[in-house]
Amino acid sequence: MKRNTEIKKEVKKRYGQLAKEGSSCCPDYSCCDIGYSIEEIKDLPSDISEFSLGCGNPVALSGLKKGEFVLDIGSGGGLDAFLASKKVGPNGRVIGIDMTKEMLEKARQNARKANYKNVEFRLGEAENIPVKDNSIDLVMSNCVINLVPDKEKVYREIYRVLKPGGRFIVSDLVTERGLDESIKNNPEKLVACVGGALTEKEYIHTIKKAGFKKIKILKKSSMVVSGINVLSETIKGEKR
Ligand SMILES: C[S@@+](CC[C@H](N)C(=O)[O-])C[C@H]1O[C@@H](n2cnc3c(N)ncnc32)[C@H](O)[C@@H]1O
Repeated sequence: MKRNTEIKKEVKKRYGQLAKEGSSCCPDYSCCDIGYSIEEIKDLPSDISEFSLGCGNPVALSGLKKGEFVLDIGSGGGLDAFLASKKVGPNGRVIGIDMTKEMLEKARQNARKANYKNVEFRLGEAENIPVKDNSIDLVMSNCVINLVPDKEKVYREIYRVLKPGGRFIVSDLVTERGLDESIKNNPEKLVACVGGALTEKEYIHTIKKAGFKKIKILKKSSMVVSGINVLSETIKGEKR
């Protein structure tokens, strides 16, 4: 438990710094590499479109419809929430949650600046989501769950908040082989989204343990992050 608390402290410190610095994209890859087309982001203010710390583009594969309710876990600067906002329209709603105060402030500032009316950002943890049971059509998340020590708890929370028939689309990093203990215990690798990454098999098993039955890998590509070979995967699951 002490280790989990320490990891979360490091993660908050790292992402708090990144929010304040406003550094765009992870240093190892650019926003376009991870699947955002110029067409999708061209109308967004550069403060928003150039601040992505994700590893995929869950919105592009979401099949979102007008009027749907969306939750973005670990919403960062808000890019995915704002892309989803456009898709669900004025009768839909997007809630972003993030545990890092500085990140939340950045997302809220971006929403005010670009005048998004159907997006709200809440302070909260992926393992204890501040959202009602059975209230969400789509849960998405982009390169966040690898940072959370208790991943099964996150997927149990996703299951709880989804409406029956609701779906999740999550982009995350996994590894082909298990990582050495020296990498798993390296704080720098942990906050860079690789130290806490599971293998694909472990990841899918975790999702199943949380109650999901229909799980599909929609997209998979290789990446090198913080010097480690990883796979970026976008995974879909449905609550039956
Ligand atoms: C790699 S960044 C990705 C941000 C955003 N999804 C994007 O694509 O740009 C990870 C984000 O997840 C947040 N985060 C990490 N662990 C979290 C947790 N347990 N609960 C809520 N947010 C978390 C961090 O504060 C950070 O904003």
